[in-house]
Amino acid sequence: MEEIIKTLPQHTCNWLKGKITMYKYQDFWTIKHLLEGGILAQQSFKAEPNDVFLCSAPKTGTTWLKSLAFAIVTREKFDESTTPLLTKFVHECVPFLEKSQVEEHENNRKNLSLPLIATHIPYASLPESVISSNCKIVYIYRNIKDVIVSHYHFLREGLKLPMEDAPFEEAFEEFCHGVSGYGPYWDHVLGYWKASLERPEKILLLKYEDLKNEPKSNVKRLADFIGCPFSVDEEKAGVVDNIIRFCGFENMSNLEVNKTGKRNGSVTENRIYFRKAKDGDWKNYFTNEMKEKIDKLTDEKFNGTGLLL
Ligand code: A3P
Repeated sequence: MEEIIKTLPQHTCNWLKGKITMYKYQDFWTIKHLLEGGILAQQSFKAEPNDVFLCSAPKTGTTWLKSLAFAIVTREKFDESTTPLLTKFVHECVPFLEKSQVEEHENNRKNLSLPLIATHIPYASLPESVISSNCKIVYIYRNIKDVIVSHYHFLREGLKLPMEDAPFEEAFEEFCHGVSGYGPYWDHVLGYWKASLERPEKILLLKYEDLKNEPKSNVKRLADFIGCPFSVDEEKAGVVDNIIRFCGFENMSNLEVNKTGKRNGSVTENRIYFRKAKDGDWKNYFTNEMKEKIDKLTDEKFNGTGLLL
């Protein structure tokens, strides 16, 4: 592993006081321990046909998608007063491919009948068995400008750097150059988008903003796609609305586990996964020049796709 990593292009993030180094592997950038986990998954992870992958670039709504999918899949086992989401951090309820052990997936599959596995790995670099087993994939993406702001605060807060010590302009420039978690972001979106055109029955794309604006239809789409559709009776009984409310930002960000908890063995506080969840927060950070630059880059990258970020 060390041998592979040593040969890769590296980038040390100056705006983070050099505290983070990213490595470029198979055309995407990431940090070392996630890269190691990703390579290990490529080498040894064996997907099963019923596995459902929750895929995303960081800061696009991963936490939200995981809680919704978890609540949907486990709704017959748990209700709002018993769901593990009350006491366990979302990212520990759904295993993360790059970080978890094979046994964890097997236990989840067996004990919880939980087929969910999350990953940030770009489509082209997913472990081969995910594609050959024809697994379902849900992909969430989000407005790039809000992703840039979210990414900035997440890294900064993770390192406990105050804003005055972490220049946003530099973070922005780095992101534009493609150096972001699992970036370039455009390529990440394009990879899953293209795959969804080729295999629409196996790959569902959800947009963060659509999920926000029309939660009911999108949560039902998600449940249908995962293979756990809501019955008419469930809908009448308010099950869909309850899941939407429970997994909503207001509720999740106020749960004790998400306000004050930390993951096992981690220094990262759970609360940094719940910042503002406001569409258009970028307007508080971008200059006109930044807006023009990112819009131009996005137009070029997405030319002819009809995708809007
Ligand atoms: P902001 O930084 O804009 O607030 P990820 O889960 O992929 O790391 O993305 C984190 C972003 O999703 C953060 O955005 C966070 O606040 C937002 N978020 C977390 N939980 C959410 C929820 N339940 N509903 C909507 N947005 C949520």
